[in-house]
Amino acid sequence: MKVGGVPYRAIFTERGGTEVRVIDQTLLPHRFETIRLETAADAARAIRDMVVRGAPLIGATAAYGVALAMRTDPSDASLKQSLALLASTRPTAVNLRWALDAADALLRPLPPGGRADAAYDFAARLCEEDVSRNHSIGRHGLEVFQEIARANESGTSRPGPRAGSKNDINVMTHCNAGWLATVDWGTATAPVYLAHDEGMRIHVWVRETRPRFQGAGLTAWELGQHGIPHTLVSDSAAGHLLSRGKVDLVIVGTDRTTAAGDVANKVGTYPLALAARDNGVPFYVAAPSPSIDWSIEDGANIPIEKRDPEEITRVRGVDEDGVERSVRVTPHGTRAANYAFDVTPRRLVTGLLTERGVCAADQTALRTMFGRPQMPT
Ligand code: MRU
Repeated sequence: MKVGGVPYRAIFTERGGTEVRVIDQTLLPHRFETIRLETAADAARAIRDMVVRGAPLIGATAAYGVALAMRTDPSDASLKQSLALLASTRPTAVNLRWALDAADALLRPLPPGGRADAAYDFAARLCEEDVSRNHSIGRHGLEVFQEIARANESGTSRPGPRAGSKNDINVMTHCNAGWLATVDWGTATAPVYLAHDEGMRIHVWVRETRPRFQGAGLTAWELGQHGIPHTLVSDSAAGHLLSRGKVDLVIVGTDRTTAAGDVANKVGTYPLALAARDNGVPFYVAAPSPSIDWSIEDGANIPIEKRDPEEITRVRGVDEDGVERSVRVTPHGTRAANYAFDVTPRRLVTGLLTERGVCAADQTALRTMFGRPQMPT
């Protein structure tokens, strides 16, 4: 998508495909800078420190991390070490393991001399597949939007103050499941961008997403760059907006979807789903197939990342002079527990927006749609 009118991807290569660059998301929305990843350790650090984040982008960065390792040292030991290093970065997004397992399966049987080129090709392919998968999710999501817009227009949608709104569609999202969290398009935002480009009047309620503010800092930024009307709200305001008929549907991303349709996503997703259900508002999860963990059925078995408590006890921002600061918002020494994700049970999910279409959040429907686990080629 565009930044200041210039098309960008969240990860890209230069110099014939060998130089890997990412947008430094820790600096957004105050500064836009790209940085070069030169080694597998750089890629691992970028994932761990959330220079890049979002499940699909984590997978793509890991794939390039392996390629960088293979360029320096294509031995078996180096392959094993880089896979282990990258796998240890973040626990919840399954795309990481998916990309690393596929890289391992592809590279291990090759002679060391052929591994670097194969690893770069693999990473590039994985990125292209991500883009086309997200675009397909967008097309299927757009059909859902159009259906809701038609129902709004004909007055068959839920009764409430929503009727007569100047927008065709009001979407609420959580965290950043936008193009910054993928290679391009985003998952939850793909239908939003397509709808906007096709002339629908669309408005997005952006939840700030405490504690790291991916909604306030990233989603608001990328929607703004593309000219999508949006309004930032505190996480706590969602129930109010849902109960007043100001939201037509909720769409969030997923870091891991179980084979039975439970969904782990940024913490706060579960209470949002509960509030949506209580108010009869459809709750969709944009779930590309690499987010499906076919080895787990019950969401309770998904590992939930716990992060530095300072992400809760402090906030970072820019003051009026443009100086970046981190300030404490709690009494000295307050104990804090920083759970980064939660699990939304399938019963609260209206549908999974996948690249193959809208799928019920249940095991049989997922198996019917995907047949067998999807691996990058
Ligand atoms: O901790 P983050 O910023 O990596 O969390 C990101 C999310 O929870 C996204 O919603 C999810 O990865 C889906 S991104 C398309």
